[in-house]
Amino acid sequence: MTEEWQQNISKVVEEGELLQGTLSQLRRKDGAAAPKTIVRPVQLKNGLHLQFEYHYSNKVTHENVLPDLAGAKIIELLEGDYKQALFKTTKADLQLLFNKKGKATLLSKAPTGSVKAADMQHNRQKNRVIAEGTAAPFLVELGIMTADGAVHAKKQDKYRQINRFLEMVTDVLPSLPKDKPLTIVDFGCGKSYLTFALYHLLAVEQKREISIIGLDLKADVIAFCQQLADKLGYDKLKFLVGDIADYEELSEADMVVTLHACDTATDAALAKAVNWGASVIMSVPCCQHELFKQVQSDVLAPILSQGLLKERFAALATDAARGTLLEVLGYKVQMLEFVDPEHTPKNLLIRAVRSGQTASKDKWEQYEQFRSFLHLSPSLEHMLSDLWPTKTDADVKK
Ligand SMILES: C[S@@+](CC[C@H](N)C(=O)[O-])C[C@H]1O[C@@H](n2cnc3c(N)ncnc32)[C@H](O)[C@@H]1O
Repeated sequence: MTEEWQQNISKVVEEGELLQGTLSQLRRKDGAAAPKTIVRPVQLKNGLHLQFEYHYSNKVTHENVLPDLAGAKIIELLEGDYKQALFKTTKADLQLLFNKKGKATLLSKAPTGSVKAADMQHNRQKNRVIAEGTAAPFLVELGIMTADGAVHAKKQDKYRQINRFLEMVTDVLPSLPKDKPLTIVDFGCGKSYLTFALYHLLAVEQKREISIIGLDLKADVIAFCQQLADKLGYDKLKFLVGDIADYEELSEADMVVTLHACDTATDAALAKAVNWGASVIMSVPCCQHELFKQVQSDVLAPILSQGLLKERFAALATDAARGTLLEVLGYKVQMLEFVDPEHTPKNLLIRAVRSGQTASKDKWEQYEQFRSFLHLSPSLEHMLSDLWPTKTDADVKK
């Protein structure tokens, strides 16, 4: 359970109120941790970060961490390494002390910090794709923002997730075709917060010609989403009821999004995306059961004999197989950390951008070795069975 001091520290970081934190008084003197760590906000080229400055006896090292991840990092350092900390914030000076039994006391005094906190706060907002202060109509309708653009306290996580997703999309926009209307599909769209966000970014803000289709099995959820799209006047956003595997209404798409579609539904979405020649694929896998049942390796018995470890390993192997198969087909693949308030452990986003290169035999061999070693037979490989380089070579030799 999250303790009160942890909630306070997280909040200070999340709200952009931290001016400087000093972590000191090592718990152990084994030389592993830096005797002192200073944390402060820094404005870098790629946006606001929190810089962790580790002070060792003979060197100082730095690590820049995204604001959304910094609170958890500070808490981890405090739990592992330090007995004391002072946080200068815009609202108070907070002193944190742990007693011998590890119990924390957090004292609050009037603020003494003098850094331009308001500027930092402003920068943080400026860096959001959808900044606070101006109401985005879809966020108001979805109950995330008030009509004057403030984010409801309980919806901060969702708001952050939406912005993080849009940042990840913004990075790859140059890889989408520029000279034609874009077709985007969101498979397993569910309540579609992120589908609406995508429409807002591209159609409303950037005034691009696009059409987005959201597909999901749940008729009631789809009816709600369609009503909302109609109410917002998002006329190129259509919601359909259906199974990803059976969806045959398109012959090409520029971008395919599939966030938390269950188990092999993700593979069906990836296979469609590849067959449609999608330039960009964004996928957060979920509930990876398939390879859990298949994976075998005596060497890995220490992992595979423990249910929890096996589950995590199988999930990693699933994503590694998917990523490598996309690479075989000429996609540039990145595995990114996705902030996900509802499904925290399922926090990995596969971002794949089509490079135009032909299928790579080397990558295919790498994949084959990997899946043979673990005795895997992933669905995505079967769904795209015509495309693998060796099959083509074998056919040519016949
Ligand atoms: C956990 S929700 C995620 C919703 C949304 N994408 C998000 O990330 O917030 C997963 C959604 O995938 C849908 N889904 C699962 N399997 C599907 C399939 N085979 N075809 C269509 N939708 C599917 C479910 O109905 C559910 O709404």
